[in-house]
Amino acid sequence: MQRRKLVVGNWKMHGVAADLAEALAIAEAASAFEQVDVGLCLPATLIERAARALPRLHIGSQDLHHADKGAHTGCVCAAMLLDAGASMAIVGHSERRQAQSENDEEVRAKAEAGLGAALAVILCVGESLDVREAGEAVATVQRQLDASLPRDNSVGKLSIAYEPIWAIGSGRTATCEDIGEMHVALRQRLVAAFGDAGEGVRILYGGSVKAANAAEIFSVDDVDGALVGGASLKAADFVPIIEAAARAG
Ligand code: 13P
Repeated sequence: MQRRKLVVGNWKMHGVAADLAEALAIAEAASAFEQVDVGLCLPATLIERAARALPRLHIGSQDLHHADKGAHTGCVCAAMLLDAGASMAIVGHSERRQAQSENDEEVRAKAEAGLGAALAVILCVGESLDVREAGEAVATVQRQLDASLPRDNSVGKLSIAYEPIWAIGSGRTATCEDIGEMHVALRQRLVAAFGDAGEGVRILYGGSVKAANAAEIFSVDDVDGALVGGASLKAADFVPIIEAAARAG
């Protein structure tokens, strides 16, 4: 099945108002590639300004709380993100699973909250180096996906990002064979969970994606886009990745 490519930048804890010039340059360049969906998941402090300034780009957050509202100091819920102009949210990034001890159940609740509010949700999964070296990557990540998927049987605007932890920010990428094997394995789980609708869910790859390796990664079957960290901060680095996605079709 042909799925539109989705290329999303995750700025992590980078960016102040002065950096919106880069986001603007990304938005302007992205408008030349209408066949690709492009998003930027920004620090919460920039979402409203970016959404206002860049109405044609999908602006998202890097997390959300699963509750509608309440006594959750420091947290942001789906309604607040929508109110600020966000249209997407990342959930379950490995940096949050590790540093904030988020487990699969919590990630699932966040995914359900985001999809329930009609946000596009990018649900992240990925294995550690130990798990990869023990030959348990596929089984582990399949289990992680099963436990993190929304339970209400509706995929809504769900995408999955496979991000091997050891490839994030390390300059190391998984081989095309490993990426292909994992994406096919994840597709099987999506179809098992959602039937035919599971075929429509985009599976992104993330982990040291850059201009030099994007075309090769996008040529792998079942790679429907990328979640990009470091190389999304500057238009000069990010736009060639969008262009590679457009060429891959
Ligand atoms: P890098 O592209 O910097 O490796 O980060 C990947 C990532 O974690 C995106 O969410």
